[in-house]
Formats: sequence, C-alpha cells, structure tokens
Amino acid sequence: MNALPHPAAGRPAEADAPALAVRRIVLTDFRCYRRAEIAAPAAPVVLYGANGAGKTNLLEAISFLVPGRGLRRARLAEIERRRAAGEAAGPGWAIFAMLATPEGERGIGTGRDPDRAPDDESDRRVVRIDGAAAKGQAALADLAQVLWLTPEMDRLFDGGRSERRRFLDRIVFGFVPDHARNLAGYEQAMRERNRLLKDGQFDEAWLGALEQGMAETGVAVAAARRQVVGRLAVAAEAALGPFPIPELALAGDTEADLAERPALAAEDTLRRRLAESRRADAEAGRALAGPHRSDLVVHHRAKAMPAALCSTGEQKALLVALVLAAARLLKLQRGAAPLLLLDEIAAHLDAQRRAALFDEIEALGAQAWMTGTDAELFAALGGRAAFVNVADGTLRTAPQPLDRR
Ligand SMILES: Nc1ncnc2c1ncn2[C@@H]1O[C@H](COP(=O)(O)OP(=O)(O)OP(=O)(O)O)[C@@H](O)[C@H]1O
Ligand SMILES: [Mg+2]
Repeated sequence: MNALPHPAAGRPAEADAPALAVRRIVLTDFRCYRRAEIAAPAAPVVLYGANGAGKTNLLEAISFLVPGRGLRRARLAEIERRRAAGEAAGPGWAIFAMLATPEGERGIGTGRDPDRAPDDESDRRVVRIDGAAAKGQAALADLAQVLWLTPEMDRLFDGGRSERRRFLDRIVFGFVPDHARNLAGYEQAMRERNRLLKDGQFDEAWLGALEQGMAETGVAVAAARRQVVGRLAVAAEAALGPFPIPELALAGDTEADLAERPALAAEDTLRRRLAESRRADAEAGRALAGPHRSDLVVHHRAKAMPAALCSTGEQKALLVALVLAAARLLKLQRGAAPLLLLDEIAAHLDAQRRAALFDEIEALGAQAWMTGTDAELFAALGGRAAFVNVADGTLRTAPQPLDRR
C-alpha cells in the first residue's frame, strides 16, 4: 500500500483537513486495474501520468461513491477488467473506499453483484455500507457528495440539454438526498408509460396510476432543482478572482409552473398534461412534456453572452465557477465540501486561473482529485497536495511533494 505524505507539512496536521475525504480506496478488476490500493491524505491529490495510464479510471471509481452511473455513464459490464485470453473470469469489479465524513469514518463497498447469474448483463450496482448491504444506491447520497468536471463537459453549453440537466441533477443530489430517488421513480414510471403507449395499451387505470406517480415525483424533482438553482445563483455572485460570474436560469414547464402556484396545483397540471398528451406521446414514442425535458440556462454575466457563444476557455471558466459555487454552498449546508474530481483540469486554464482554482480548493477545504499528463501543471499547488504517479494500472506516491511555489 502506498501511504501518501501528508501535504500540509509545517501546518497543524488535521486542523483544516477536509471533513469529507477518501482516505483509502481499493480497486479490484476495475478497468485497467487488476488490484490497486492507495491511502490518501485528507487533502488534494494530483494524479499524473501518461495517456492511458489509468488516471480517469481512478476518478471514475471515486464517482461511484454517489448514486448513478459514474462520470462516464458506463454500463457495468464495460467496466469489468478485460481479461487476457485464457484468464478466468472473476466475481465482478469492486471498489472499496474508507470515507472520512463529518459523522465519522464509513466503509463503502460497491460493484457488480457478485451473486449475479453468469449470463446476467443487468446493470444493478450493489452497495454495502459498513459491511451491510444497502437497499439501493440512493443511500450513498446521504454519505458523500461528489462533483466532477471532465474534458467531455467542455462542450456542455454547446450540446443538447440532457447533459446540462444531468449536470444540474448531480449538483442537486448533494443538497436534496431524495432527489436521486425521486428522479429514478419518475424515470421508471415514464419508461413504463412509454412502453404501454408504444404497445397501444390505453388502460385508463394503469396509465392514470403511472401519470399520478410521474406528477408526484416530477414536481418534487422540479421543486428541488428550483430551490438549488436559486441558491446557486446567489452563491455564484461571489466573484472568484479571474473566474466569470455565471447567471443561471431554469427552463422547464413544471419548473415554471412552480413559480406561480403551489406544488399540489403543479402536480394537477402535470398529471392533466400527461393524460391529454397520451396520443401525441404514443406517436412520438416518448413523453413530450415534463421535467425530463428541462434545461439549465447559463449566461456569462459580464459579457451578457449566452454561455454557448463564449470561447472554449471562457466556457470552462464558467463551469469551474459553477462547480466552485456549488461546492461552497454544499459546505455551508452539510458542513463539508464535496469531493471534487477534476479531470485534465489544467488543460484549458491559463496559469492565473489554475493558481486561483488551487487557492479556492484550499480555502474550501475540499479533497480535489486532479489529473494531468504532467505534474508541472500543478507546481503552484506545491506542498498543499499529494502527488501520485499513475502508470500501467499502478499507483505510486511521488517520493515527496513537488514544492516549487
Ligand atoms: N474494461 C477495461 N479493461 C481493461 N482496460 C480498460 C478497460 N476500460 C478501459 N481500459 C483501459 O484503461 C486505460 C486507462 O484509461 P484512462 O482513461 O484511465 O487513461 P488516462 O490515464 O486518463 O489517460 P489520458 O491521459 O489519455 O486521459 C486505457 O488504456 C483503456 O483502454
Ligand atoms: Mg483521462
């Protein structure tokens, strides 16, 4: 096992340590890792190494400490380490993490169901908390909050709204632990309704019950988003050195409805809308209205410019500002900054913005896991972070932190 040197040499050891931190993580048959283990300090960690070394894979593993499909939205079978010809299959990939939380240390295990049938390709991810099986992934939302930025998200503002909605929902998970459950309930009912409509089964009682479920969970989902976006918009007002202030708005019929009437009335509206659009939805093969179509609308305030019309670097800076605002707010609400997974974060940020980001991470007291092909890009962090070299599916602590500040 690699023990990382505590980066805060010369400072009181744990005084300003992040309250939420992965202190140890063990990966088994997870992508390029046969078995890898690392002990981490409660401080930022820089993962550096060549292309294909396994940096993003490790971030992906950490992203499984919250509900959902992780930062690549992968299928569970895809994550399973590819075996060499003739190598026997194992019980399935697994992650174990010892997590420091404000309520004490918790052991989280997650992975493919080891008891699944050999031909079972289902995507059920099992979760154990302190050794006991959890009913579902949703329980993780109570323990850890994780926010991430990946190079794929550089085009978040240019692309379709589903990615932005997902980005927002991940932020909301941290504030409203029921959000994951409500969203899953809504989507499940919607899928079932889509199937009935596709099969031409216009069964009033059945459809009515599904639409009632969609209305209840859908309004809860929209209300949570409204609440979080409202607070996020205020938190984002605090200027962050070289980072721009993002202006935020929610576009969505149910969200708009909630601005004007109480939740129960919004539920009635959504239920009625669904009932009235059964024929049209059947023809389209999907529900045409509802909170599964909402969008997060972002503007660059100083430039009065829609985010999509900003430069690549400006868009990246807006995203970073958004994530940092969410992290500050989460810290206020939960007493702990979320884990931050910042994949190739240095790529589009100039030296001034990089330094500002590092300072903000330190001020937040967040355990940020940052990757890059070159450790030099993180030199401004100096002794404030632990450096880990990733090579061929192994993790090695750098002999001592690069201190060139
Ligand atoms: N299921 C799998 N089994 C084995 N190896 C896999 C699996 N899935 C992905 N890999 C491999 O894992 C390796 C590391 O991938 P990863 O994305 O973590 O690299 P990286 O260090 O982030 O590289 P880059 O700097 O290019 O982003 C890649 O070579 C990839 O092909
Ligand atoms: Mg990568």
